[in-house]
Amino acid sequence: MGSQAKTHVLLVVSGGIAAYKACEVLRGLQKAGCEVRVAMTQDATRFVGEVTFEALSGHAVYTSMYDNVGDPIPHISSSEWADVALVCPATANIMAKMAHGVADDLASSTLLACGCPVLVAPAMNVRMWQNPATQANLRVLQDRGVGFVMPTEGRLACGDVGTGKLADVADIVSATLAVLGEAATPEPASVSGNPEVQPTGQDGLLELIRAAAASSGGAITIEEPVRDLVGWSFLITAGPTHEAIDPVRFIANASTGKMGYTIARRAAERGAKVTIVSGPVSLEAPEGVEVVRVTSAAQMYEAATSRFTSSVDCAICTAAVADYTPAHPADHKLKKGIERIDVIELVETRDILAALASMKDSGQVVVGFAAETNDLIAYAQAKLAKKGCDLIVANDVSRADSTFGADTSRISLVSSEGVDERETMPLPQVADAILDRVCEIMEGRA
Ligand code: CTP
Repeated sequence: MGSQAKTHVLLVVSGGIAAYKACEVLRGLQKAGCEVRVAMTQDATRFVGEVTFEALSGHAVYTSMYDNVGDPIPHISSSEWADVALVCPATANIMAKMAHGVADDLASSTLLACGCPVLVAPAMNVRMWQNPATQANLRVLQDRGVGFVMPTEGRLACGDVGTGKLADVADIVSATLAVLGEAATPEPASVSGNPEVQPTGQDGLLELIRAAAASSGGAITIEEPVRDLVGWSFLITAGPTHEAIDPVRFIANASTGKMGYTIARRAAERGAKVTIVSGPVSLEAPEGVEVVRVTSAAQMYEAATSRFTSSVDCAICTAAVADYTPAHPADHKLKKGIERIDVIELVETRDILAALASMKDSGQVVVGFAAETNDLIAYAQAKLAKKGCDLIVANDVSRADSTFGADTSRISLVSSEGVDERETMPLPQVADAILDRVCEIMEGRA
């Protein structure tokens, strides 16, 4: 950036789980030649310590109006210093304060004092984002000329799916550079803090935080993610299948694929190599997971059985595979009144779970699911025997907190060892409980 260019970014971090992404935003801005200073709400410091931002930015971080050595009025000095203020992540609370001129802490007072352009990157629960109060605050701020990098749709930290996810780091950096009047293409630049670290993606962020921890003299400690499935390979079936009646009509079911995709995501996060054979769903592939997309039960059978090689350690069949498929799907759209569509001859599909269980060697584990509305455990035990698998995950789909599409589930783990009934849990915890049980079965064999 040229010497006349505006390069001062005041990063205001408010208290949400996405606060850690502000570290990556900070680094992206530095790479583009910006100087970044950070102000944090007290709640934000619960998510990422101020020492992390101090190490990354190379400047003191303001969290309070008081006791700032050498800078008695930090909200005025930093607001005057800034060429742009970027609020990232912005909670519903800080948006509400900004909309109503509330200045009851350092972050909100600084924003009220800012004469420079302000850019906001919200991140919050989908219902908080959609709440009319938040939407009204959004409009008030937009009318006043505040810029927004809108939240995106996806899986939120609370497990809900919807709009509320912090926008991509690259988009936030580009938008900030655009406000500064610079091209959005990052160029190499000297970086204060830890200049040797140039992060990209999640691993880059971890590297950054590790580097900040190393230079913090023990002030920052890092809880490393559990990577207990490194070297393991999982094959997971997920979602519904669609069985064609004719080119435009099909038989389907209520499965959303959430359970299978969540297990896949957690297995990958724990270090495993994961392949999902997926029926038609509207979910994104979890990071690092291969997704093989199929439509019908027959295609799922072929895709799953051909991939269940000896290098796969565990197959988990979460898919709601159609039990029956039309015997003679029409090759053209059937015309009612002219052709018969009131009676459809059905034939049974092949059972993928039973096939995988019959193929498995002594080192492989095969897990099935039993979605039931009554006599849960008895049906699950019958399925365990009939399918020949190692574990059945039974869930009572008559319960609102455990039905298709829910973000929680109440499972029972049914094996030859017995029945382990669990309380209702968010899906990521359910996934971990299943993966832990698979590990126990493997270890038991070893
Ligand atoms: N499954 C499969 N292939 C099929 C049918 C089912 O892999 N063609 C798997 C599912 O992925 C799940 C388990 O088998 O893991 C469900 O068992 P199943 O007895 O088929 O359950 P339902 O379809 O609910 O049938 P039922 O009426 O016997 O309860």
